[in-house]
Amino acid sequence: MKKLVVLTGAGISAESGLATFRGSNGLWGKYRVEDVASIEGWYRNPELVLQFYNERRKELLNCEPNAGHIGLANLESKFDVRIITQNVDDLHERAGSSNIIHLHGRLKWVRSERNENLRFELSEDNFEIYLGDKASDGAQLRPDIVWFGEAVPMLLPAIEWVEDADIFVIIGTSLNVYPAAGLLQYVRNGVPVYLIDPNDVIDPYGKVTTFIKSVASEGVKILSETI
Ligand code: APR
Repeated sequence: MKKLVVLTGAGISAESGLATFRGSNGLWGKYRVEDVASIEGWYRNPELVLQFYNERRKELLNCEPNAGHIGLANLESKFDVRIITQNVDDLHERAGSSNIIHLHGRLKWVRSERNENLRFELSEDNFEIYLGDKASDGAQLRPDIVWFGEAVPMLLPAIEWVEDADIFVIIGTSLNVYPAAGLLQYVRNGVPVYLIDPNDVIDPYGKVTTFIKSVASEGVKILSETI
């Protein structure tokens, strides 16, 4: 089977009701990213950070995968589909996708702030963590999210997937954040690159071969009929 590698961002979850970051009504219009999504922000005010992620986790409980997520899962009948997502929601999993890398972590997971390997998934009836909640090593529990200023542990596996791609698809990301946006440089020459977004997106590497100017639900349908 041909390897279909997909890079997704907040836009694919927009139709599920989750806010993006940089568009109108985006999260970074309401919060300062350095306060709630950076390691410095965590050291400065961990309670604000815990509250930010508790609120986003609560929102996620009321969201369902949309036709974009589901369409990608359905493509597994024809392709070896591998999803590299910048999103921390679990909508790709819940849509049925099998191969997923979360570059920026997972909202429903928490970990010891001392040992990133001591992590677990919160249950839906206990989805908030507070200052004083400890991991098994006695350290404070923190969101299992990759914050600005932290290394991206899954970057190398993601690069390997991109280098192996026979088709590369970008859905719902402004390509503003590195190293995620830099993955495009690893797409082999001659590999078709589709970009699905209702707005214009600057492709920093000139790799995009087909721009589907559409929301994810409709764009994935068009893609499925094209490839
Ligand atoms: N369908 C598809 N794309 C959409 C939709 C939709 N319904 N609605 C908006 N978009 C597009 C926007 O046009 C934009 O290009 O989704 C993109 C969202 O861009 P951002 O808000 O910048 O989100 P993203 O690219 O995922 O941000 C990357 O930045 O702050 C960090 O860690 C955070 O993972 C995030 C990273």
